[in-house]
Amino acid sequence: MTPPFSEYMEWAKTRSQARFNLASSGVEAFALAELPVRLEDLEITGPSFYGWPPLQERLARKAGVEPDRVMAATGTSMANFLVLAAVASAGDEVLVEEPTYTLLVDAARWLGLEVRRFPRRAGDAFRVDPEEVERALTPRTRLVVLTNLHNPSSAFVPADDLRRIGAAAREAGARVLVDEVYLESLAVLGRKADSAVHLGPEFVVTSSLTKAYGLSGLRCGWAVADAELVRRMWRLNDLFGVVPAHPAERLSVIALDHLDRVAARARRLLETNRAVANRFLAGRAELECAPVDGGTIAFPRLRRGTVESLCERLRARYETTVVPGRFFGAEDHFRLSLGCAPATLEGGLERLARALDEAS
Ligand SMILES: Cc1ncc(COP(=O)(O)O)c(C=O)c1O
Repeated sequence: MTPPFSEYMEWAKTRSQARFNLASSGVEAFALAELPVRLEDLEITGPSFYGWPPLQERLARKAGVEPDRVMAATGTSMANFLVLAAVASAGDEVLVEEPTYTLLVDAARWLGLEVRRFPRRAGDAFRVDPEEVERALTPRTRLVVLTNLHNPSSAFVPADDLRRIGAAAREAGARVLVDEVYLESLAVLGRKADSAVHLGPEFVVTSSLTKAYGLSGLRCGWAVADAELVRRMWRLNDLFGVVPAHPAERLSVIALDHLDRVAARARRLLETNRAVANRFLAGRAELECAPVDGGTIAFPRLRRGTVESLCERLRARYETTVVPGRFFGAEDHFRLSLGCAPATLEGGLERLARALDEAS
């Protein structure tokens, strides 16, 4: 099948499952039983039309904006889709980082947008070079799209670089979408994780509770933008569902009210895994990867042999999966989870080491 379907998403849903699944990108699932939920806190149907006010309030407080600048959405996925659809129309140009989370490109193409790319180079630690963005902008560009932290590498984009990109976009009459779903994992580690939305009116950000907190099933995502764009996205969202699943909204409010507890568990897991993964990556001469500083994923380059055959061997002999770099247009790389259960990471890395030994 050709686009508009997402080859990556089908692979992720049907082929990434394994005993040692190192292909996931978020923190291991947080269990409902760990949240103080009482049956009387839940209800099936409620007054949520353009947002359920208690959820809107919490998301706005978290983002540091007024509620009319926040739109609750079905995951970062829907938030991204709505931003693309509300900002650009068929035939418009969007400028998307490469490599990136491929769904951003797949969704843009499905909307009939012309997708141009700007590079984030492995040799430059996947940094965003604002000059590359400036050069690639044209009068037809409606939106610049990037991820921070970067999927697949976890590279951090500093505020100064974002400001330069914002200024260039504004001059070109474009906006900047920053998908911050992995930025939350810096916040979890207690590090500075300021959202780009405060850098200027041209910025639109999206995020969710999925990756850093292990709360994927809540589908608690959001977009933050100027109030007018938010209104437009609410109206667009009418096309996809009358109202959200209200029990999920209620559970999201409970999770947001106890986010410290959820974050504490994620912090322990990420700190343990980061140390283990960095030790492993530094000790394998056939892999090239800057030490991971934060985030839930790493993106090493395989210096010898092909990633496809490594992935085959891992799956066939070692019950282990990683994400092949071809999904990111980087065939000599693969993506590795730092968010899985520590025992899964240790077991998977042990098997990865054996598969690498066999190849050499
Ligand atoms: C950059 C990025 N954005 C969005 C998503 C989807 O997030 P959500 O589960 O919040 O829809 C992913 C999932 O892998 C992602 O990597």
